[in-house]
Amino acid sequence: MKITVVGAGNVGATCADVIAHKELCNELVLVDIKENFAEGKALDMWQTAPINLYDTRITGSTSDYSKTADSDVVVITSGLPRKPGMSRDDLISTNAGIVKSVTENIIKYSPNAIIIVVSNPLDVMTYCAYLSAKVDSSKVFGMAGILDTARYRAFLATELNCSPKDIQAVLMGGHGDTMVPLPRYTTVGGIPVTELIAKDKLDAIVDRTKKGGGEIVNLLGTSAWYAPGAAAAQMVEAIVRDQKRIYPVCAWLQGEYGLKDVYLGVPVVLGKNGIEKIIELQLNDEEKALLNDSAIAVKEVMDVLDKLNAAN
Ligand code: NAI
Ligand code: 2OP
Repeated sequence: MKITVVGAGNVGATCADVIAHKELCNELVLVDIKENFAEGKALDMWQTAPINLYDTRITGSTSDYSKTADSDVVVITSGLPRKPGMSRDDLISTNAGIVKSVTENIIKYSPNAIIIVVSNPLDVMTYCAYLSAKVDSSKVFGMAGILDTARYRAFLATELNCSPKDIQAVLMGGHGDTMVPLPRYTTVGGIPVTELIAKDKLDAIVDRTKKGGGEIVNLLGTSAWYAPGAAAAQMVEAIVRDQKRIYPVCAWLQGEYGLKDVYLGVPVVLGKNGIEKIIELQLNDEEKALLNDSAIAVKEVMDVLDKLNAAN
């Protein structure tokens, strides 16, 4: 089994570290555009193997994609965060350029790879990778839902003073303010969360979840990496171990939930073939309206990418 992580920055390096600790593959390749950066990170990580007792061989490469040949799974974390003075369209244009060239290089050397996109803006960068990879959408999808759900579950565990392990939840929609946490599908040790937390408190937790990325940016001055890296690695694990786990994943919708030609977070079954099934929940009218609003917001950003592509 061979896995590549593109982008050896905060999220990529954390994801690689978790993959190695869990021995999800024999060969792990880190790639970055910054000269010697991936090589340095890979060497440092490999030197933890005798301490942490794993066999996964980690190597790094500066933009030499031949080193990634025949990867089974690829995680794309390369991309810039938004900087002062940069418009949303500037960010899309910059990161789309990065994600497009990375995806083309990956597919050139690993035509059968399953691609997990992490770069932001997540839903539209996943769309960008899909357009560039030209493979079935079951093999190109994005990570956001596991992270957003983890934040929601962590906040609930704090509020209830219980183990986060006991909290099961579903969250749908785009990776942003329009995401749709679903209290009706949230349980704590099998008990509906609505029986354990008053509505006003639950509403506040849902609101905090929606702003969870921004909360970390305000604290750190940059975006999160421990939870995003671990979340991407959890998706890799479901694939390489063919676990058939049910996770919220940014997937290409073709009529599911009445939505078409949009990448959006929905519950799926993840296994060795990538997305093996999209699960359609029976949403009530309020939930459906929230999901539709989220799809409209994501589509608007996808349109920006389409216009940029048409202009080039
Ligand atoms: P970072 O700046 O620490 O790392 C990004 C790395 O990508 C850098 O090392 C940079 O040299 C590299 N890179 C840039 N262009 C490249 C190219 N063409 N080829 C190869 N490598 C290239 O950033 P961080 O914190 O790791 O975040 C990475 C991305 O993930 C950002 O777009 C961020 O917004 C996004 N993100 C998404 C999350 C999600 O839930 N989907 C959560 C957290 C971050
Ligand atoms: C996050 O949610 C910024 O997407 C990044 O942490």
